[in-house]
Amino acid sequence: MLRRYVKPVVVVALLLPWFWLGYLVYLETLQTGSGLGADPVEGLLHYLGEWSMIVLLCAFSVTPLSRQFKWPALIRSRRLIGLSAFSFVLVHSVVFAIFYAELQLQILLREVLERPYITLGMASLMILTLLSLTSTRGWQRRLGKSWKRLHQWVYLAVPLALLHLLWLRKDGYDDVAIYTLWAVVMAAERLYVWRKRQRQDQKAVL
Ligand code: HEM
Repeated sequence: MLRRYVKPVVVVALLLPWFWLGYLVYLETLQTGSGLGADPVEGLLHYLGEWSMIVLLCAFSVTPLSRQFKWPALIRSRRLIGLSAFSFVLVHSVVFAIFYAELQLQILLREVLERPYITLGMASLMILTLLSLTSTRGWQRRLGKSWKRLHQWVYLAVPLALLHLLWLRKDGYDDVAIYTLWAVVMAAERLYVWRKRQRQDQKAVL
């Protein structure tokens, strides 16, 4: 019964940060100074960065949570949450490309090569782009067994994103610690299930 409400609730939850951003931008246009902070571009980049991290971790948590709480309905929203994480990262990167790199490929490449935290963020974005493009049923069918292997690259995209954040942060690591713990718990659940399956397979062979 509750199953059919899962997706609409997820959609509304994913739209809320965008609505809030719209409100902050609106406040900014009123020039009350209470929108995106003293430096609005930096405020925008940080807002989108934080939500990129949070939604990416939500996408990474769908499988373990639906498994542990026996809630398969959640799995049906996995693609939606993954694509939403990608859209946050993409807009975060576009803000960087427009306001920091002035839409010049040369500056963008120099930043990627010279600043390790940009290199790490960019690597994560590349992986998420590949995963988003191949997330359709069509690609799932075309790639067969390799599709699962390809989508395991999320195990690299998440630590790269965490390292990006850790590298650029100068002080105040509370949220980074929470994000890291969150990722470790979700990865540990996957490792536990994988090892359990391996043991069962070994038993079946014996
Ligand atoms: C999955 C990918 C990414 C995630 C999760 C992410 C997350 C974040 C977060 C949370 C912040 C805020 C840090 C803070 O508040 O101190 C941030 C800042 C930033 N990000 Fe990203 N990011 C990603 C990819 C990228 C990419 C691809 C670029 C550039 C092309 C980029 C450029 C930046 C810059 C320039 C800042 C601000 C640095 C500063 O304040 O000096 N990020 N990012």
